[in-house]
Amino acid sequence: MADKVETSARPLRSKAWFDNPDNVDMTALYLERYLNFGLSQEELQSGRPIIGIAQTGSDLSPCNRHHLELAKRVREGIREAGGIAIEFPVHPIQETGKRPTAGLDRNLAYLGLVEVLYGYPLDGVVLTIGCDKTTPACLMAAATVNIPAIALSVGPMLNGWHKGERTGSGTIVWKARELLAAGEIDYAGFVKLVASSAPSTGYCNTMGTATTMNSLAEALGMQLPGSAAIPAPYRDRQEIAYRTGLRIVDMVREDLKPSDILTREAFINAIRVNSAIGGSTNAPIHLNALARHVGVELTIDDWQTYGEDIPLLVNLQPAGIYLGEDYYHAGGVPAVVNQLMTQGLVHEKALTVNGRSIGDNCRGAAIADEAVIWPYDRPLKEKAGFRVLRGNLFSSAIMKLSVISSEFRLRYLSNPDDPEAFEGRAVVFDGPEDYHARIDDPALAIDETTILFMRGAGPIGYPGAAEVVNMRAPAHLIKAGIHALPCIGDGRQSGTSGSPSILNASPEAAIGGGLALLRTGDRVRIDLTRGTADMLVPEDELAERRRALEAAGGYAYPAHQTPWQEIQRGLVGQLETGAVLEPAVRYQRLAET
Ligand code: FES
Ligand code: MG
Repeated sequence: MADKVETSARPLRSKAWFDNPDNVDMTALYLERYLNFGLSQEELQSGRPIIGIAQTGSDLSPCNRHHLELAKRVREGIREAGGIAIEFPVHPIQETGKRPTAGLDRNLAYLGLVEVLYGYPLDGVVLTIGCDKTTPACLMAAATVNIPAIALSVGPMLNGWHKGERTGSGTIVWKARELLAAGEIDYAGFVKLVASSAPSTGYCNTMGTATTMNSLAEALGMQLPGSAAIPAPYRDRQEIAYRTGLRIVDMVREDLKPSDILTREAFINAIRVNSAIGGSTNAPIHLNALARHVGVELTIDDWQTYGEDIPLLVNLQPAGIYLGEDYYHAGGVPAVVNQLMTQGLVHEKALTVNGRSIGDNCRGAAIADEAVIWPYDRPLKEKAGFRVLRGNLFSSAIMKLSVISSEFRLRYLSNPDDPEAFEGRAVVFDGPEDYHARIDDPALAIDETTILFMRGAGPIGYPGAAEVVNMRAPAHLIKAGIHALPCIGDGRQSGTSGSPSILNASPEAAIGGGLALLRTGDRVRIDLTRGTADMLVPEDELAERRRALEAAGGYAYPAHQTPWQEIQRGLVGQLETGAVLEPAVRYQRLAET
């Protein structure tokens, strides 16, 4: 309460705005407009921490919309602890509604939030996270400015149901598309099936990018323990919002900053948790980006080194069968972390927002339902991490091992003479529109030995990098019982997709990566054991193709549609290194400057 105010580790940042006797004019200027919504001069100049609530919810961002309610409880917590709450909007991002892709907006929301956190009288901030890109955007900005920050997840939707079966966000869309393509349902049936997966407020209830990133925000130590998995409409979600408000005020007093929490050890913990939960292929992009903004060394190879051998413990769609409510009841992130701790796989001393270590927070956290979270010594699948592949097609791409189905393994990865390797004929699409127009074209002669390629879908080619690498097979193959062809590309794919694609290929075709040289009809060889991915085209032929590509002015991609598309295309890096705005990485710990 107010008597704790004097114990601040160092003067409040906001004092520079509101308590500045040497610059009376400026203080008056800052004060008067903050007074006009009910705050008093005494409050603003009382030495109470001023806490921002970075609001990502809005009508345009329905996944995070429940934060508009939760923020009321956050405010009460802030008040109760002696702070003053100031809520402000973050640039909205809704994963499935934004054209051409929400990937374009992560860095825009990041930039906007950096300016707010740096430029206004805020001593700490509550980051309201949820839908896919909102989580990394908020964490990246807090890392860059480095004021005390705590994340609050909005929580997943309740479980979806259709005819007695769980229907999960996104995952049901991929399935419904196949049913529609095969003529088993009509359009009305398609919409009904898809809508059943979204029964309440909250984010995707599958282990898509939202549940992944919210779980990892907790594993990194940036949310209160046990909070990530609480479903949005639950009473417990209101309570944790209140506790988050209480806690951020003390974090300011303790001067506990993102740089104290987001250490290399914390990232390695998060990589391992990501494998154990069957996390999204977007996680390496976002965590590598976050690491760069906080100044921690983290590479794509770290994901294989630390994550590949970790087994899958969490039985959520798309790798498993359950959904968000089940995950919470089974114990959520602490139960997963505790399983990893029993194997010595957690850096237990890593600090978290509650001021305690992750080891102290999670030690002994029991699994409440072993159908949903499996114990480490009896996992759902061995080796659930990412394999990194390299070759003349790209210098890195990843494959999510936990979603390789038995059908896929049998067809492509079980040649006794050549295990985990396959060859096929490439069919190449230039961007999602080209794919949609031609996938069912008989002239492409797609059969079960075809490898589908999607290029022109990276951060520059399709600004922001589209989630389009998981391509459904042509209708004639689906009808014949072949549901998945190998897919490779320089774009991303939705975390809700169960496709074992090889994706996030860097460098992308748009900047002359190897994919730009590939042609339909080329033979391609993938070897998971060796970690290679190559087009079987002679060197001199590739050199000739490169000359022709350069003579044509490089790989052609669509024109910019908005100013931001042009600006970001000029500054963005590749998916392997987080697709950050490269010049932004130079700016770190801004609050100290
Ligand atoms: Fe927003 Fe999945 S679309 S959380
Ligand atoms: Mg997505």
